[in-house]
Amino acid sequence: MGEKLFHDPQLSSDGTVVCASCHIVALGGDDGLVKSLGVAGAEGDVNSPLVLNVSLNARQLWNGRARDLREQLQGPIHNPIEMNSNWDLVAERLRSNQDYVKAFADAFNAGITQKNIEDALLSYERTLVTPNSDFDAFIQGDELAFTEPELKGFESFNDLGCVSCHQGANLGGNLYQRLGLFHDYFADKEQIYESDYGLYLVTGD
Ligand code: HEC
Ligand code: HEC
Repeated sequence: MGEKLFHDPQLSSDGTVVCASCHIVALGGDDGLVKSLGVAGAEGDVNSPLVLNVSLNARQLWNGRARDLREQLQGPIHNPIEMNSNWDLVAERLRSNQDYVKAFADAFNAGITQKNIEDALLSYERTLVTPNSDFDAFIQGDELAFTEPELKGFESFNDLGCVSCHQGANLGGNLYQRLGLFHDYFADKEQIYESDYGLYLVTGD
């Protein structure tokens, strides 16, 4: 059900946008665009991140302003330049569809409610994990899992210190870091957007 909802245009006000418009699961969960397009072609201000392995992130969104996936989910549903909708409207639409009515009644006591719609979507998002990569096999002791170039890359990854920030189950996404460790991040940019202020927008610090 979560997978179906993730691909259901009824979640957006004008029925043109699905979660997967900007998070194409077969492409790793982003859309390959610099800026994603929401309802009526509205352009967002940041790039859409992958949704693969997203449940392993310590916080959600580029600047970490959502504590977890449930808090994050409120964003795209309500955001006027994403789906521009609300839970009452989504629930009302789903209740007029007998397949959903039956599926929700089978899965949940209270049937179609905001919480249950969220739970279905969150359950789906938690399945979007990639646990059996060559990388996983290698660090679990299978020395033949890497080709020669991959092995060299892994050595560089460690030697250059990438691993100091990209570690843990998700190879990153578990700590805040200052952008521009090696250069002045702002000096290198032709144009500065509000979103470049990152965590500052959340904490004011
Ligand atoms: C119009 C494009 C668009 C749509 C539609 C959309 N998203 Fe997103 N999504 C984004 C963008 C852009 C971000 C990053 C926003 C930010 O960090 O400020 C994002 C961030 C996320 C994240 C956080 C990922 C991370 O690594 O921090 C998750 C999870 C997510 N979206 C799930 C969903 C779900 C579920 C839906 C449907 C209910 C949805 N998105 C609909 C564009 C979209
Ligand atoms: C000081 C901490 C730090 C170091 C060291 C570091 N990174 Fe990162 N890396 C980050 C952060 C933070 C992001 C997210 C950037 C953002 O929010 O725009 C990131 C993003 C990435 C991404 C994009 C991931 C995605 O989901 O889009 C890749 C790929 C990456 N780093 C590779 C590397 C490699 C390769 C090295 C070593 C040469 C490296 N990083 C060193 C902190 C670091």
